[in-house]
Amino acid sequence: MSELQRWEDRFAEPGYWYGTEANAFLKSQAHLFKPGQTALAVADGEGRNGVWLAEQGLDVLSVDISPTALAKARALAAERGVTLRMQQSDITQWEWPKACFDLIVVIFIQWASADQLPGLFAGMKQALKPGGVLLIQGYRAEQLKYGTGGPKRVDQLYTRAMLQQAFGDFAQIDIREHDDLMREGKGHTGMSALIDLVGRK
Ligand SMILES: C[S@@+](CC[C@H](N)C(=O)[O-])C[C@H]1O[C@@H](n2cnc3c(N)ncnc32)[C@H](O)[C@@H]1O
Repeated sequence: MSELQRWEDRFAEPGYWYGTEANAFLKSQAHLFKPGQTALAVADGEGRNGVWLAEQGLDVLSVDISPTALAKARALAAERGVTLRMQQSDITQWEWPKACFDLIVVIFIQWASADQLPGLFAGMKQALKPGGVLLIQGYRAEQLKYGTGGPKRVDQLYTRAMLQQAFGDFAQIDIREHDDLMREGKGHTGMSALIDLVGRK
């Protein structure tokens, strides 16, 4: 089965696999952005994060490979009375824009393998404006013992060293490792080994 089909099958189920509430880490960083700024929601899925950013008054581009997820994101945006730009793209093949966004949000895109990650991280850096903010949340390798969401392959999980190496040239970078209870639909449920990055280019 192709990667696209795998996501299509998941999102074809009724309801929102990751819920409709924005990610808690993203919400906790709201002091870093403001209405009128441009935001990119990378692999935004069913739109819970992109729609929430649009509700905060940002001009949001939501990109995902799955047409079914994007249709759900569109429905969620309509229900909440906001608009966001949407694009169906495989971001491993995407021509990342240059210095375009004040904010880039990368929440659980851990389908990407170790050989894909450097290109994706480089694309995110390129797409951020100087002074722009990058927010990443993902699972650490310790997540394998919890089994409460995310990939089963260790090369798809993040380490502090990996994020430090990719974004260490930013003006500011803060990386936090923590274990917390997640409640995000049926996709991410239970105690989880997490890592958050807050960076400023
Ligand atoms: C774990 S979900 C997270 C979705 C969203 N970020 C959230 O937190 O609710 C991963 C998302 O990555 C998308 N995806 C997988 N491969 C992709 C690719 N090559 N390009 C763009 N999106 C992709 C899937 O369709 C899915 O929506």
